[in-house]
Amino acid sequence: MSSKKEVCLSGTGVTKVFGFGSKKTVAVNNIDFQFHSGELVSIVGESGSGKTTLIKMLLGLTSVTNGDIFFMGEKRDISSHRKKKEYWKGIQAIFQDPFSSYNIFSKIDSVLLDCIHMRGGRRLPREKKLKMMREACSFVNLKFDEMTNKYPFELSGGQMQRLMIARIFLLKPKILLADEPTSMIDACSRATILDMLLKLRDEINMMIIFITHDMGLAYYVSDTVYIMEKGKFVEHGNADEVVLAPKADYTKKLLSDVPKIHEPWDFRKSGKS
Ligand SMILES: Nc1ncnc2c1ncn2[C@@H]1O[C@H](COP(=O)(O)OP(=O)(O)OP(=O)(O)O)[C@@H](O)[C@H]1O
Ligand SMILES: [Mg+2]
Repeated sequence: MSSKKEVCLSGTGVTKVFGFGSKKTVAVNNIDFQFHSGELVSIVGESGSGKTTLIKMLLGLTSVTNGDIFFMGEKRDISSHRKKKEYWKGIQAIFQDPFSSYNIFSKIDSVLLDCIHMRGGRRLPREKKLKMMREACSFVNLKFDEMTNKYPFELSGGQMQRLMIARIFLLKPKILLADEPTSMIDACSRATILDMLLKLRDEINMMIIFITHDMGLAYYVSDTVYIMEKGKFVEHGNADEVVLAPKADYTKKLLSDVPKIHEPWDFRKSGKS
């Protein structure tokens, strides 16, 4: 565990309730958490367990019904538009649906330029800005010259996800929230994108929260795994503890869907081990 590292994001009693009366849904139910700089945390849970709702609260896109969120040791204040923009310099997200992440009227160069401006680079010379954009594109294996003058919707799903990582490369946030970032692409590009994110984490000590259904992936990439069931964290700990010696029944159930993570594949066995 990275308990000696600084806590960059934490929460106490964080709760989200949608709707009222008989239509009430408690999407996130009174959870506590502490995440550290440079840590890679996976949050694993079935569909509807509250993962995206939590991410949206952390980002400040959805209001928190109850509880407090702390950013870099201080209670988060996003009460004005200006404060929210300041907060977003430190915390960024990659969403399930990359289409939703872009302003459809912005061309790709202005998407990247915005990132440079957000980091205070508005007055840099044009040449320097171009160099930074080129560098960001080459970090994710996109050709900048083929990107200029295009709109995000003219890219393939995989290119669009790489563009999202190029944005993160320029923004260099303390924290990256990644909601199923690899769901739209094939296994090979998926591994590449994960490698890019891991490299970025090492370069800028960025903390990453991965949201996934995939225990195998969580085990492979994370330092810490949080298991989410019906809005609650039922178990958390370092990836080895949670995956190789799960305590909660729900974790065991999730793991029974991926019996081959920690044992050699035996074709003579039928069904689950
Ligand atoms: N805007 C909303 N209004 C009402 N209910 C909502 C809203 N957003 C989410 N919910 C409900 O909150 C619960 C948690 O949803 P959430 O999207 O956080 O799940 P998830 O874990 O991200 O699922 P998935 O793995 O399918 O993405 C679900 O019951 C969902 O129907
Ligand atoms: Mg979701």
